Amino acid sequence: MKLIVLSIVALLSTACVVEKAPFKESKILAGKEVKASTLNLGYTTYVEYCIQCHGASGKGDGPASKGLLPPPRDFTQGLYKFPWTAYGELPHDEDFARIIRHGLKGTAMLPWDISDERLDAVIQYIKTFAPAVWEGKDKVLGTKIELPADPFGEVYRHQAIEKGRKVYHVTAACTQCHRGYATKEEINGWAKEMGTTIELGSDIYQVKVQDGEYNYKVLPPDFTYHSLRSITDVPSIVQRLMYGVTGSGMPGWKDVVTDEELWALAYYVQDLRDTGADQAKRNALMDKVNKQ
Ligand code: HEC
Ligand code: HEC
Repeated sequence: MKLIVLSIVALLSTACVVEKAPFKESKILAGKEVKASTLNLGYTTYVEYCIQCHGASGKGDGPASKGLLPPPRDFTQGLYKFPWTAYGELPHDEDFARIIRHGLKGTAMLPWDISDERLDAVIQYIKTFAPAVWEGKDKVLGTKIELPADPFGEVYRHQAIEKGRKVYHVTAACTQCHRGYATKEEINGWAKEMGTTIELGSDIYQVKVQDGEYNYKVLPPDFTYHSLRSITDVPSIVQRLMYGVTGSGMPGWKDVVTDEELWALAYYVQDLRDTGADQAKRNALMDKVNKQ
């Protein structure tokens, strides 16, 4: 008898999870009216494809989330790392679409091949987990910055990489969080060339774990070793550098460095990725900095 009661309770609670149409009314999400039918399609899509990681309450605590690093995003925080919008500002639907279609490389978030209709619906649905951030007519989408023209191009790729190396280690000091890839002698030499000096800490060749605004520590990648989440090519690195990675501490660099320096940094980061893809080249670079 006890067993029967338990199974009925279990049946009822599953029935609850797969309820077909929890939304009866439309919602205003960042100024846009979204119909109940779209939210309901988003809900069933989420239950089918996303719930096992992102969880029934959107907190990133689904049954398949155990042990995942980074953990699935907690959608109730309303914080998103990889849109192309100014740091901390709301993603546009096309940002969510790009992230969901491409996945986030090096994480459990795979690319999803779902119909355009279901994609749009699930995007609207996940916003409902963070009503304070999305609901109401006063919420505005993030600022988009136009991609500046590439001042180098393939022909001047080598010059771009050379400049990027200096900007990375001296002007922008990306090594505050990421690791260094040049010898101290080289870095001090570049600083002198630029008429400045730079403090080189003992942790220059380590990645420095960041606290960030999520509930776990965030690791800045080693570009010769880790997969980059949102990067496909050099322009996509420029996009990421302009906007930063919301909540991870990685700031946006637009107007902090010049547009030419942004592109130079992007070519340099791509060169580090290419170096990482070639074991012999990576070993040579690591030997150079380890044996100084
Ligand atoms: C196997 C586990 C898994 C599944 C299934 C999954 N995700 Fe994710 N998702 C993740 C992980 C892990 C991250 C965090 C990656 C990071 O922080 O770099 C993530 C992050 C995200 C983000 C945040 C992007 C940002 O810029 O911060 C969105 C949006 C997202 N997922 C949507 C979805 C949708 C929609 C589905 C279903 C179609 C889905 N996910 C299915 C694991 C999963
Ligand atoms: C305050 C710390 C900090 C500084 C300074 C910083 N970063 Fe980052 N960066 C991070 C963290 C943390 C991540 C990882 C974010 C994640 O995956 O959650 C990251 C990620 C990245 C990524 C990968 C994005 C992706 O899609 O995976 C690139 C590229 C990058 N940083 C380049 C740079 C460059 C170039 C500089 C200097 C101009 C720089 N960063 C300065 C902390 C920093």
